[in-house]
Amino acid sequence: MTQDELKKAAALAALDYVPDGAVIGVGTGSTVNHFIDGLAGIKSRIAGAVSSSEASSARMRAYGIPLVELTEVDSLPVYVDGADEIDGGFAMIKGGGGALTREKIVAAVSERFVCICDASKKVATLGRFPLPVEVIPMAVRHVARELAALGGTPKLREGFVTDNGNLILDVHGLAIDDPQAFESAINQIVGVVTNGLFARRGADVLLLAAPGGVQRHE
Ligand code: 5RP
Repeated sequence: MTQDELKKAAALAALDYVPDGAVIGVGTGSTVNHFIDGLAGIKSRIAGAVSSSEASSARMRAYGIPLVELTEVDSLPVYVDGADEIDGGFAMIKGGGGALTREKIVAAVSERFVCICDASKKVATLGRFPLPVEVIPMAVRHVARELAALGGTPKLREGFVTDNGNLILDVHGLAIDDPQAFESAINQIVGVVTNGLFARRGADVLLLAAPGGVQRHE
């Protein structure tokens, strides 16, 4: 199976976690795109979706899936999203697609985070995938110096502006032994909007697609 076929298998398995009549949270990325395609087939079963990006909103709008603003709901029963890396404690690096801030906000109000991945995303230690950090533009040089002081090598994502009008620094060369502590440390840097470590609020369910099938870890 190709990596994309594995992503699709994980994504379609997540349809089992969509409660009838609910407003659900929907993430961003190529794996989530398969989930949205599947969700279109059961759209009459749900009340709507809160989207984590303009890209996912456009895809859901095209299918006629009702979009709901997060300001209209207090909580969501489930949030379905992919990851760039996930460890054994279900801490993740996210933001490869640059949607980390809205993803983290939607995840924060969700009771259950269902992470959908192909098996290549499972790692022992987070950090081989460069950690995305969303930054207020005027702070980019300051934040880059502070990230370097924490041991990483930040590189500006060239030509990229987030849905929130900000920049992304991708931090290379990390081996993150304590994801919760590192997530908190980066959040202390003035000018950082969000970092792509989802450790303090990690996943609750991991649907990991391997050639032998989709493993469900809860
Ligand atoms: C986007 C994300 C994605 O979930 C992550 O990058 C995984 O993407 P893909 O499903 O395309 O491999 O965090 O900001």
